[in-house]
Amino acid sequence: MPILEARNLAVQYGPLEAVRDVSFTVGEGEIVALVGSNGAGKTTTLKALMGLKALSRGKLSWAGQDIAAHSAAARVERGIALSPEGRRLFARMTVLENLEVGAHTVRSATLRRRTIDQVYALFPRVAERRRQLAGSLSGGEQQMVAIGRAMMAQPRLLMLDEPSLGLAPKVIAEIAAAVESINRESGTSIILVEQNARLALKLSHHAYVLEQGEVVRAGTGAELLADDFVQKAYLGV
Ligand SMILES: Nc1ncnc2c1ncn2[C@@H]1O[C@H](COP(=O)(O)OP(=O)(O)OP(=O)(O)O)[C@@H](O)[C@H]1O
Ligand SMILES: [Mg+2]
Repeated sequence: MPILEARNLAVQYGPLEAVRDVSFTVGEGEIVALVGSNGAGKTTTLKALMGLKALSRGKLSWAGQDIAAHSAAARVERGIALSPEGRRLFARMTVLENLEVGAHTVRSATLRRRTIDQVYALFPRVAERRRQLAGSLSGGEQQMVAIGRAMMAQPRLLMLDEPSLGLAPKVIAEIAAAVESINRESGTSIILVEQNARLALKLSHHAYVLEQGEVVRAGTGAELLADDFVQKAYLGV
């Protein structure tokens, strides 16, 4: 029984149908990758899951409940969080203040404190820089804060939009290790959106390839890494 079930999702921007037929499921504790080129509809899919864009067709169920009409705030309360493309930190606020923004739905101060400690344990560099303005951090550090801010909502499903974008290989490896550790240690389900298909397929249990708003391939990460079509189109083999 999946915790998230997306069936035939479609999303429009005016007359443009950016997502036309996307179906996938996410199991409890699973890492699911959505890969595809520029403009394939990955970010739009995440926005629809988060409630930031309305569906024009399709069904979306979360823990057995239809959430298609729920606001983004209601979805955060039910355990869905998004670390958006481009990080979107508040540059003129400190790192700690950015983390606190992510925790505004968590009523217990003890729980907020404990989650901040989890974020600091996962990203020691974020802890060291907690009093610094977010805008003064390196790209990799900002990405860590963006993931940490989404973790502050204590999600059961954490959605990460292009966490590796623009980062050096060494920093990408750190982020990848953190994603695995979040998944392993707290059993958090993860949707990982990436143009870096190789990375995403290595990290994920299941994966879906999007092209022009449709799912064109699906399988386990290992299956898609070995798939001829995926190798030619996305892995440069
Ligand atoms: N706010 C918007 N208004 C109009 N069209 C949009 C808007 N956002 C995205 N689109 C269009 O929708 C399509 C899908 O965009 P989307 O951002 O979901 O792609 P993506 O797979 O995330 O791409 P990338 O890898 O470049 O981030 C594209 O054709 C894009 O131009
Ligand atoms: Mg995108």
